[in-house]
Formats: sequence, structure tokens, C-alpha cells
Amino acid sequence: MVKIAPSILSADFAKLGAEVEDIRLGGADYVHFDVMDGCFVPNISIGIPVLKSLRKATEMFIDAHLMIVKPIRFAEAFCKGGADLVNVHVEADSEENIFAALAAIRNLGKKCGITLKPGTPAEAVLPFIEKVDLILVMTVEPGFGGQSFMHDMLPKVAAIRSYIDNLNPGCELEVDGGIDVITSALVKEAGANVLVAGSAVFKAADRAAVIRDIRNA
Ligand code: DX5
Ligand code: ZN
Repeated sequence: MVKIAPSILSADFAKLGAEVEDIRLGGADYVHFDVMDGCFVPNISIGIPVLKSLRKATEMFIDAHLMIVKPIRFAEAFCKGGADLVNVHVEADSEENIFAALAAIRNLGKKCGITLKPGTPAEAVLPFIEKVDLILVMTVEPGFGGQSFMHDMLPKVAAIRSYIDNLNPGCELEVDGGIDVITSALVKEAGANVLVAGSAVFKAADRAAVIRDIRNA
């Protein structure tokens, strides 16, 4: 069964604890925590103090998506701040430093992942695939919620599913951006098993219904 990871980027940050409790009761599997530095992406969101507060407020699995340059600088802080999985972009530093970031996350007992921007080819996962718990394929340009799903990412999702099945079958395959009850069927068909959804869930009147419908689409 696929997992649903609502992105709190579209939540009301003034009542974040209640927002996360709402999606937990609605059947969500992970909380997707989007970190933006205004440099790797043209926007700024939330960081370590918010993560620490959220960690105290929920026992849900927190999936931290670091859209920051040189994530090795903050890998330890996000692990110690309470993330269960820390996800770094392969474009954010040299291959050597991305390996170092993944090792740091692992050594702190947390799960690690790599993320690909839309312009990065599927083959970019190959150096890292046996060392990660999750691969995230962006299906919009990172930086903002509420954008339209990029259908031309579907072959990349399918290619990475094939790499995972051959090289690291336990690895999860996550997609992020423009996921709703329509596009969720497409990404599942292509092989994704963790679906991030921000605006589709948090802007809905009945969040539990949307979570259920995305899961079952
Ligand atoms: C975009 C973020 C996403 C975003 C998804 O840079 O990584 O997690 O919140 O939002 P929706 O689901 O609205 O496209
Ligand atoms: Zn994200």
C-alpha cells in the first residue's frame, strides 16, 4: 500500500500542532517537512526551531526535505532536531559531500534520502542508490506549493523504480509536487510508493477524504 506524506508547507503554521494531529487522524503516514534556504530555491520556509517544536507535538514519522545548499552543514542539526528521515538534493553539493551528508545522517541513527530536481536525469541516483532508504523525484520545480504536476517526470519515476527493484528493493520511491486524486494514479502506476501532497490535503475541507482518495486512486 502506498504511503501519504502531507507537506506542511500548505498548513497553517500558527496552529501547526493541531494541523499535524488533523492529518494523523486523517490517516497520513508521514509528515513532509519542507526546508528552503532562499538560495537553493527562490523561497524561504521553516527550519530547525520549528522542527524541534513539531517533534514535541507529534510522534508521526517526520520526512525532512532539505532544499538547501551544502546540506552537510545542517544534517546533524536536523537529525538531532527530530527528523526521522533527512533528504538531501543531489544538486546541492559535490558527490563527495553528498556521500558525507548521507553517512552523517546514518551515523545518527536516522534514515537518509536523496532528491532529484526535474532537470536531473534518473541515472543521477546510481552512485547513491545502495546507500539510501528513499529516493524523492520532484514532480514540480522545488520552491513553492500549489504548482501543476509535470507529466514528463513519469518516465523518470518508472526508470528509478526499475533501478530500485534491481539494486535496493527496500528503498522507497517518493514523489513531490502537484499530487492530487488525479495525478496520484499516474505516479503509482509509474512505481512511486510515497506520495507527498501539500495543497491537495491541507486546503481541502475534508482532509481525511482526500488522503483516502489519493491512496486509493
Ligand atoms: C515544493 C515542496 C513540496 C510542496 C508540494 O518545493 O517540496 O513538498 O509543498 O506542494 P503541492 O502538493 O501543493 O504541490
Ligand atoms: Zn517537499
